[in-house]
Amino acid sequence: MKTQAAVFHEVNTPFKIETLDLDAPRAGEVLIKVAAAGVCHSDWHLMTGATKHPVPVVPGHEGAGVVEAAGEGVTRVKPGDHVSLNWAPNCGTCFYCLNDRPSLCSTYVGPIWAGTMMDGTTRLTKNGQAVYHFSALACFADHCVVPQECCVPLSKEVPLTVAALIGCAVTTGVGAALNTAKVRPASSVAVYGAGGVGLSVIMGARLAGASRIIAVDRAEGKLDIAKEFGATDVLMAGPDAVGAIKKLTEGRGADYVFEAIGLPAVQEQCLDAVRPGGTVVLVGVSPMGSGTNLPGAIITRQEKTVTGSYYGSANTARDFPLYADLYLKGKLDLDRLISKTYPLEQINEAYADMLSGEIARGVIVFE
Ligand SMILES: NC(=O)c1ccc[n+]([C@@H]2O[C@H](COP(=O)([O-])OP(=O)(O)OC[C@H]3O[C@@H](n4cnc5c(N)ncnc54)[C@H](O)[C@@H]3O)[C@@H](O)[C@H]2O)c1
Ligand SMILES: [Zn+2]
Ligand SMILES: [Zn+2]
Repeated sequence: MKTQAAVFHEVNTPFKIETLDLDAPRAGEVLIKVAAAGVCHSDWHLMTGATKHPVPVVPGHEGAGVVEAAGEGVTRVKPGDHVSLNWAPNCGTCFYCLNDRPSLCSTYVGPIWAGTMMDGTTRLTKNGQAVYHFSALACFADHCVVPQECCVPLSKEVPLTVAALIGCAVTTGVGAALNTAKVRPASSVAVYGAGGVGLSVIMGARLAGASRIIAVDRAEGKLDIAKEFGATDVLMAGPDAVGAIKKLTEGRGADYVFEAIGLPAVQEQCLDAVRPGGTVVLVGVSPMGSGTNLPGAIITRQEKTVTGSYYGSANTARDFPLYADLYLKGKLDLDRLISKTYPLEQINEAYADMLSGEIARGVIVFE
């Protein structure tokens, strides 16, 4: 069949909308009619070269849709199911899966970063040439074929636009607060970067009962948005932010500081902004090959913890339905996260809006 997709060819050139060939799902794979795909910064890292990937590739890794067909041996879903797509499928049997760290599953990591299905081939082609799948999903397209492990069925009460955001920003951000940092009630939290991911960290910190939540961003508009999501204080990014965070936390620094941008210089600032004994959680994805200065003298003497958080340390089969349920119960305001929707043809405008810093999250919607 054919699928209309946004294709990335070369660093610093816009997405091109193209018609591609999409093969039928093979054993263990599922054909999805994509309903919505979120505009996440991780796709943009391909465009700038911060993340390297084989090309041409169809990005899009924050998606949801309806199962249209299932290949041989598929047991997790059936046609008609509404699914949110997991961009880090887990096998259930490797060391990490067995040790409760499914977001670190080592079975699928190779093929995923090679841009293929699990058998090392692509279902997408153009004129007989392979087109790669980003993160096993490639959901900036009206249809995609994914491994069944990427499919998490959700209640049909959840709008598919919301289900899409559960597929990345929400699980990454809320999970960073709840699973990675295990934010404590009445604690203080600072969040650098109030995009879809950082705003989700704020929602997670609020759910956990943090009493002070400080949002730091360089875009004025984001500071107002952060307040709507539960930030108790907002700060303009800059050299004064650390002093201001300390002032708001009795001179100590915050108990937890989250970096949701992906900039080494900001990560270093986060270490200054966290109190002795506190935890810095790195959520933003830094450019491949970049480094952050790790001042051992401070980390040792002040017992500061620095940890990464990948996909919110999620167990997606457990967490996607949990977040969907919290949404349905009014405890996660995910409708508010969707500032603007776009047809696929306007994907370049959607990314320009993301970079402007004036919107919470854009979502590509398909008819
Ligand atoms: N760890 C994971 O599993 C995971 C998952 C998804 C996304 N990410 C990463 O998280 C980061 C955020 O993603 P997003 O989709 O929310 O991005 P976004 O572009 O929507 O938001 C980024 C925010 O950071 C702000 N910002 C940029 N530079 C800043 C600076 N110097 N100081 C303060 N604020 C600044 C922007 O104004 C914007 O509000 C990206 O690096 C993305 O790749 C990580
Ligand atoms: Zn595994
Ligand atoms: Zn993402």
